[in-house]
Amino acid sequence: MNNMKDIKILAIETSCDETAVAIIKNGREILSNVVFSQIDIHKKFGGVVPEVASRSHIEKIDLITKEALEIAGMKLKDLDAIAVTNGPGLVGALLVGLSYAKALAYGLEIPLIPVNHIDGHVSANYIAFKDLKPPYIALIVSGGHTHIVDVIGYGEYKVLGKTRDDAVGEAYDKVARTLGFGYPGGPFIDSSAKLGKRDAIKFPRTYLEKGTYDFSFSGIKSSVLNYINSMKMKNEEINKNDVSASFQEAIIDVLITKVTMAAKEFGHNTIIIAGGVASNSRLRERLDEKAIEEGFKILYPPFELCTDNAAMIGSAAYFSYNKKIFADLSLNAIPNIKL
Ligand code: KG4
Ligand code: ZN
Repeated sequence: MNNMKDIKILAIETSCDETAVAIIKNGREILSNVVFSQIDIHKKFGGVVPEVASRSHIEKIDLITKEALEIAGMKLKDLDAIAVTNGPGLVGALLVGLSYAKALAYGLEIPLIPVNHIDGHVSANYIAFKDLKPPYIALIVSGGHTHIVDVIGYGEYKVLGKTRDDAVGEAYDKVARTLGFGYPGGPFIDSSAKLGKRDAIKFPRTYLEKGTYDFSFSGIKSSVLNYINSMKMKNEEINKNDVSASFQEAIIDVLITKVTMAAKEFGHNTIIIAGGVASNSRLRERLDEKAIEEGFKILYPPFELCTDNAAMIGSAAYFSYNKKIFADLSLNAIPNIKL
C-alpha cells in the first residue's frame, strides 16, 4: 500500500506569450491546466512584443490562478508548493510570474520551486506517459530552443547539442512570415505542407561537422527567403505549399538524423520530443516511421502539452520537490538560463 501523501503543486508559467497556471498532483496528474494565449494580442505585430506581453500577464495572472483553483476544486490552503518558471524567457514576462509566485509562497508559508522552462517542456511527457522514467534521449524543439539532450535522471540533463543560430520554431515563423502566413507560423506551414510536394525545391540540409549534435538553421532559412525573393523578382508564381513542404522536409531530415544518431550512441531505446514544434504532424509521422524501421520507442505529448503551458512546469517541479530544491524570496528571472 502507498501511504505517501499526495503532493499538489500550483505552477505558474509566464515566460513568453502564454499566461498559464496549473495544479498538478504527484508530478503526473493534471487537476487543472489553464492557459490564456496572447496570440491575438501579438499577431498584429507579427511576433511577441515583450512589454505588451508583461502587461497582459499582469492583467491576467490573478484571474487565471483563481480559475485553476476553481477547476481543481481546491483552496490555496490545500497546496503543498508553488512552482514558477524563472527562465529562459523574456525578463519582464518572467518577473510577473515570479513576483506572483513569491507572494503566494510567502503568504501560504510553503516552498517556492524554480523551474527551467526547457525542463518543463521535457516533463510534459511524464504527464502524458505515466510510466516514463529516465534515461532517454530528448529532442526539444520550440520557438526559442533546439536541443538534443541525454536525460540522465528527473531534471538531470546532459546537453549533447543545440542550435548555433536560429531555433527550429524561429525558422518556421520567419519562413511563414515571408510566405504571408499568420503568426505563429509553424501550424500554417504544417498544414500548407500537406498540400505541397516535398521534393519540389532542393533546400540545404546542414549537418555541420561530423559527429556533432549541434544544429544550424540560419542557412536553410536564408535559402528559402532567397528563393522567395528571386521568384518575386522574376515575377514567377510561388507555390507556397511546395515551399512549405520542401522547407519542412529539409528541417525534419536533419532533426531525425541527429536524434536517432544520439539514441544509438548513448544506447537509449526511448526518444521523446518536446516543445511547440513537437506538435508538427510531419515530424511525428517521420519519427513514427523511424520507430518502426529501427525499433525505437518514440513518445510525444498531446498538442496542448507541447506548446507553452503550466502543467509541464508543475510536473518538473514535483521532482525538484522530492529533492527539496527550493528557492528563497531572492529568486530572480534568468532570461538565458542554461539547462
Ligand atoms: O514551445 P513553444 O510554445 O514556445 C517556446 O517556448 O518557444 O513553441 C512555439 C513555437 C513557434 O515557433 C510555433 O510556430 C511552433 O512552436 N509550432 C509549430 C507547430 N505548432 C507550433 N511548428 C511547426 N509545426 C507545428 N504544428
Ligand atoms: Zn516553450
